[in-house]
Amino acid sequence: MKPRSNIKVWDPIVRLFHWGLVGAFIIAYVTEEDFLSLHAWAGYTVLGLVIFRILWGFIGTPYARFSSFVFSPPAIKKYLTETLFLRAKRYLGHNPAGGAMILLLLISLIITTLTGIAIYGIEENAGPLAPWLAHAGEFWEEATEETHEFFANFTLFLVFIHIGGVVVESLIHKENLVRSMINGYKRAES
Ligand code: HEM
Repeated sequence: MKPRSNIKVWDPIVRLFHWGLVGAFIIAYVTEEDFLSLHAWAGYTVLGLVIFRILWGFIGTPYARFSSFVFSPPAIKKYLTETLFLRAKRYLGHNPAGGAMILLLLISLIITTLTGIAIYGIEENAGPLAPWLAHAGEFWEEATEETHEFFANFTLFLVFIHIGGVVVESLIHKENLVRSMINGYKRAES
């Protein structure tokens, strides 16, 4: 049995989403032209997970909801400033900066996957958009490809900041946030 001072924060869906997303994103990032169909399937998985997570953000358990982790820009700024001075308040759910990062990651992943599906249709005449995009001109081909590449790399950049944030907050609050994302539990008392 779990000690009483631990509280369940992340439900199984959030945890499965997270680690599934990590796996699918890594596979999509490292496979490119050589393993195009694996790349495409990993991309579909990312998009499916993201759509599901957005729905879960409205109907899911309390800490999974957007309403619990979307904060105003001044609140995010205040939290970042406090973090800089190592006196940021501890949150049981996502903190304001973490919440903002989640939104950025979801948006960047949506742009990356949608442009990926578009370029798959334009260049390979494959995927769900192929019937509409197979005859798109060179301009659209180039623009879509550049956007896809830019946002794939931008997502990776965000992931590094995300991991840095997880490490910093774990140190400030003397807790293991990665373990919490695995078993779902966090220390109840601050
Ligand atoms: C090994 C690398 C990673 C580690 C250790 C890690 C760790 C974590 C942790 C500990 C949290 C919870 C933060 C909190 O307590 O507020 C979290 C949340 C999150 N991470 Fe990661 N992460 C990793 C990679 C990624 C990647 C590659 C992505 C996206 C491409 C990602 C996207 C997210 C998202 C969207 C959430 C919010 C989860 C939710 O509420 O559904 N993470 N991550």
